[in-house]
Amino acid sequence: MDKLVIRGGRRLSGTVTASGSKNSSLPIIASTLLSGAGTFTLHHIPDLKDIKTFTQLLNHLGAETSLANNTLRVSTGKVQSMLAPYELVKKMRASIYVLGPLLARFGHARVSLPGGCAFGPRPIDLHLMAMEKLGAKITIETGFIDATAPEGRLRGAHITFPISSVGATGNALMAAALAEGTTTISNAAAEPEIETLCNFLAAMGATIRGIGTTELEIEGSASLSPVEFNNVFDRIEAGTLLAAAAITGGEVTVKGVEPEQLKSVLKKFQHAGCSIETTLDSVTLKSGKSLIPTDITAKPYPAFPTDMQAQWIALMTQAEGTSHITDKIYHERFNHIPELNRLGANIEIRKNQAVVHGPKLLSGTKVMSTDLRASASLVLAGLVAEGTTEVLRVYHLDRGYEKIEVKLRTLGADISREQYKEFG
Ligand code: EPU
Repeated sequence: MDKLVIRGGRRLSGTVTASGSKNSSLPIIASTLLSGAGTFTLHHIPDLKDIKTFTQLLNHLGAETSLANNTLRVSTGKVQSMLAPYELVKKMRASIYVLGPLLARFGHARVSLPGGCAFGPRPIDLHLMAMEKLGAKITIETGFIDATAPEGRLRGAHITFPISSVGATGNALMAAALAEGTTTISNAAAEPEIETLCNFLAAMGATIRGIGTTELEIEGSASLSPVEFNNVFDRIEAGTLLAAAAITGGEVTVKGVEPEQLKSVLKKFQHAGCSIETTLDSVTLKSGKSLIPTDITAKPYPAFPTDMQAQWIALMTQAEGTSHITDKIYHERFNHIPELNRLGANIEIRKNQAVVHGPKLLSGTKVMSTDLRASASLVLAGLVAEGTTEVLRVYHLDRGYEKIEVKLRTLGADISREQYKEFG
C-alpha cells in the first residue's frame, strides 16, 4: 500500500494542466452502452482507479475497452450481459450509471445495489423513480435491482426530480435517449458534468433541448452512433490545485480549464484575499498577504460544490478568524475533520456545518481518511504543516486525482509516494 510523504512549508508556484473530469467520464463511458456497433474514441479521459473500475465493469458486460495516453476506445457491439455484479458495483457507486443505458438498449438490466458510503446515506430512489416513469418495472430482491421494459422499449415521460441529483439526471438522460417519444426532466442537475453528458449524447445523435439548464427535453432515437469526443477538464482537481497555491501563500496557474465552470470557487478565493486572473482557458491564483475567513455553503451547481468542501476547510485552518462551511448536499461529509484536528486544526462540527477557527499552526503526523476529497484536504494540510505529514490510504486519492504528487512536485512541493509498512 502506498502513502504520500509531504514535507510542508514550501510556497507553490508555476503552471500545471488540469486533467479530464472523472465525473463526466463516467456517464460518458456508460453512454457507450447505448450504441450497438462501432468504436467510440474518447479523449482527455483521466487515468484513474475509478475509470479502471468502470471499464472493468463494461468489459464484464462484454465491451472491449483500451485506455492509452488518456484516450479511451470502447466497442460495445458484443455486449450480451445485462448484469452488473456486486463485486464491481461495491467498488464504486457510480456503477449505477449502467442501469439506464442497459435498460434502454436491451429492455432489461440487473444491477447490484451499491450499499453504504463513507460519508453518509446515498440513496438511489430517484434513479429508480426515473426508470419507472419511463415505463420500467422494477423489483429489488437479493440485493439486486431488476429492471425490465415490459414492451422491450422504454417510453418517453415527464420526470420531475424533488431534489437535484447528478446521477439520477444522468441515468434518466441516457435512458430517455433511446426511449420511444419525448421525455422532459424538470429540476434536472445542471452541473457541467451533466452538460457534457448532454453534448455527448447529442453528438451520438440524440436531440436534447435545454442543455446546461434544469429543464431538459429529450427526443428518443431508435439508434445512436459511436463518436469521437473530447472530455472536459476536472473542475474539482483544478480547484484543489488552486487551493494548494492559496494554502502555501503561492502563485499558480492552472491551464486547460473553463473559468466559467469554476466561478463560485474563484469568487470564494477572492473573498479569502487571493487575486484571480483568468484567460479563456486558464486561471492564475496569487495569494494575498493573509487568508481572510469565509463562509461557504455547498449546494448544487452553480453554487459552491460539495466536492470542494473538504479542501476549503483545510484552507480555512490558515485564515485569520472563524469560517463556517455548510454542506447542504451531504450532511455528514466530515470525515476529514478529526484528522485535520489531529494535525493541530481547531474545527468543530455543528450538524451539517464545520466551524473552523484559524489560523492554527499545523504540525505533521500520520493521517488517513476514508474518502477521496477528505484525503485531498489532508494533502493540502500537509503542504502547510510543519515537519512531515504522511497521508495513508492513498488509494482514495488515486480514485480521483491523476498523478497528484507529480503535479504538486512540478509546483515545488516536497511530496513523494512511498510504500507504507504498518510497523516499518
Ligand atoms: N439523492 C437521493 N436519491 C437519489 C440520488 C441522490 O436522495 O436517488 C441525494 C443524495 O443523497 C444527495 C443529493 O441527492 O444528498 C445529491 O446527490 P447526487 O445524486 O447529485 O450525487 P451523485 O450523482 O451520487 C455525484 C458525484 C459526487 C458529487 C455529487 C454531488 C459522480 C460519480 N459523483 O454523485 O462526486 O459529490 O454528484 O455533486 O459524479 C466525488 O467526486 O468525490 C463525488 C462524491
